[in-house]
Amino acid sequence: MTARKIALGVMGLAFAVVATCGLEAQSAPPAPLAGSAAPTPPPGPALVVINERCGTCHSTASVFNQHRSADDWAATVQLMVDRGADLTPDDMNMVIDYLAANFGPEPARPAAK
Ligand code: HEC
Repeated sequence: MTARKIALGVMGLAFAVVATCGLEAQSAPPAPLAGSAAPTPPPGPALVVINERCGTCHSTASVFNQHRSADDWAATVQLMVDRGADLTPDDMNMVIDYLAANFGPEPARPAAK
């Protein structure tokens, strides 16, 4: 009887964890607080371009999850343009500068796992 209770308890806990993770992944509004898990991209003309042109094939979360050097961002943006991203050379430079400044190799805030 005790073993059965424990088993039920463990199952309930596992379900709660799964449900919580699912909720977080789905409905995460940009959190203004520093130190929050989701990186909040600072506003600016480059962010507008990214939201309009980089979110068409994949979510912009796959952009803001990354931390790369300026060279790596340049290579990534060039690759996306080769794939069909609609950016002028000026847009590309602006986006590369923005990403390198805000999503460089060293995370600006300690990332929560
Ligand atoms: C024409 C469609 C398309 C557009 C527009 C696009 N991407 Fe992508 N992107 C992809 C595809 C397909 C993948 C997944 C393939 C892969 O992982 O290499 C991807 C993956 C990525 C990744 C993660 C994969 C990696 O390279 O490690 C990043 C970062 C990224 N894109 C950034 C951008 C940025 C920044 C823009 C806007 C300048 C952009 N993407 C616009 C198609 C696109």
